[in-house]
Amino acid sequence: IGADIGVVGLGVMGRNLAANLADHGATVAGYDLDAGRRADFAAHVAGAVPCASPEELLGALKAPRTILMMVPAGAPVDALLSALLPRLSPGDVLIDGGNSHFRDTNRRSALAQQSGVHFVGLGVSGGEEGARRGPALMAGGPAEALAPVAPLLTAIAARAPDGDPCFARVGPEGAGHFVKMIHNGIEYADMQLISEAYYLLRNLGGFSYERLADSFAEWNRGELASYLMEITTDILRTRDAESGSPILEIIRDAAGQKGTGHWAATTALELGMPAPTIAEAVHARCLSALKDERVRASAAFPSHTAATPDDLVSSVGDALLGGRIAVYAQGFAVIAAGSRQFGWDVDLAAVARIWRGGCIIRARLLDRILAALSRTPDLPNLMLDPEISSLMTRGDAGFRRVVAQATLASVPVPAMSSALAYWDGYRSGRLWANMIQAQRDYFGAHGYERIDRPGMVHTEWKPA
Ligand code: 6PG
Repeated sequence: IGADIGVVGLGVMGRNLAANLADHGATVAGYDLDAGRRADFAAHVAGAVPCASPEELLGALKAPRTILMMVPAGAPVDALLSALLPRLSPGDVLIDGGNSHFRDTNRRSALAQQSGVHFVGLGVSGGEEGARRGPALMAGGPAEALAPVAPLLTAIAARAPDGDPCFARVGPEGAGHFVKMIHNGIEYADMQLISEAYYLLRNLGGFSYERLADSFAEWNRGELASYLMEITTDILRTRDAESGSPILEIIRDAAGQKGTGHWAATTALELGMPAPTIAEAVHARCLSALKDERVRASAAFPSHTAATPDDLVSSVGDALLGGRIAVYAQGFAVIAAGSRQFGWDVDLAAVARIWRGGCIIRARLLDRILAALSRTPDLPNLMLDPEISSLMTRGDAGFRRVVAQATLASVPVPAMSSALAYWDGYRSGRLWANMIQAQRDYFGAHGYERIDRPGMVHTEWKPA
């Protein structure tokens, strides 16, 4: 006998996952450097086995041992790994449940394998509440290592609206953290789209906070239903406890970020797969952080004004849906590209399935995405699915009007504009790149392909 699983790192996420595991019948041993956190764990987790050192934790577990690491990404994971590895036995399973970079997870998987230890990179989404009541879990690791822990991870995971558990092995080594990274990229972009929608209705439409909340509540009953829409409605209805004014009026407009959106954007660039709206959402946070400069510039440059169109709400709804489709299309295309590049064989439909519950980007749209990927598993882009593209075309005119009106009125809508440009670029059979090829060949003799026969050719642009 012994504990079923050990959790190292008993911050809010670690403690909540431990409590969730205990709810599902597991005996959980826990260790944290901080004695206060160990005491909290002992007080809040049913049947908890608090341990005062990593050695004690390892001694408390039944073999083969399963250890869930819930420490901050980066150096702390490496430090913990080197402390644990020499003390583990072949067949033990080490799970990293933090937001680690997938390349670190690839490296750590190889390192653990040298000792016969199985390494699992587990993407966990849903924040504190998700960890406690049911997160979405994206696992990467050897299938034989995941098989014994799968029942427990399935038990603690969220359920999609149809009851499906939101846990899956999405591939080997860093695949789980890769999928979580793209989840966060989509999270950034969808948050940016929603923020632009609120900002547009407020600044171009002059909407009150009540009317804004009503619009979001209405959208959340239809095709746009999602967790982020739901919390946005709540935020719009919330007042500051001190001043009594709408809470958004007192929150400083400078966004923070911890890096996973940036990783998603740079990985897309590295893979050569366009994900402009994910990148734009990161840029938009960076731009927002230049608060003092923006305030100075706003005094120097007057804004343009434009008439408010009558159909603003419905057009903004179209832009939100079109933008969200483009963002998911970008995210899934990057996952497919990563899967090809690293030979992971990621099941995209499984990704759509487990994102339908528990995680921050859960949304009704994922039901359609799941249906599309089940119909055509190798769909090159979600926008090519007839059901999804019909949603795009239905809102096309409204989407365009919003971006045009916002531009005329100097209201910045970077995510919406970028999503529209992505859609327009993707649907253009002939683009401007012939000119780029000509320029490259002109100044650097890089050669170009002709449209009428295969092979590279070069033009002598200047007469000698
Ligand atoms: C989740 C979230 C979470 C992420 C935060 C913070 O899926 O639960 O993605 O993992 O860490 O949202 O991200 P930023 O601080 O970078 O906004």
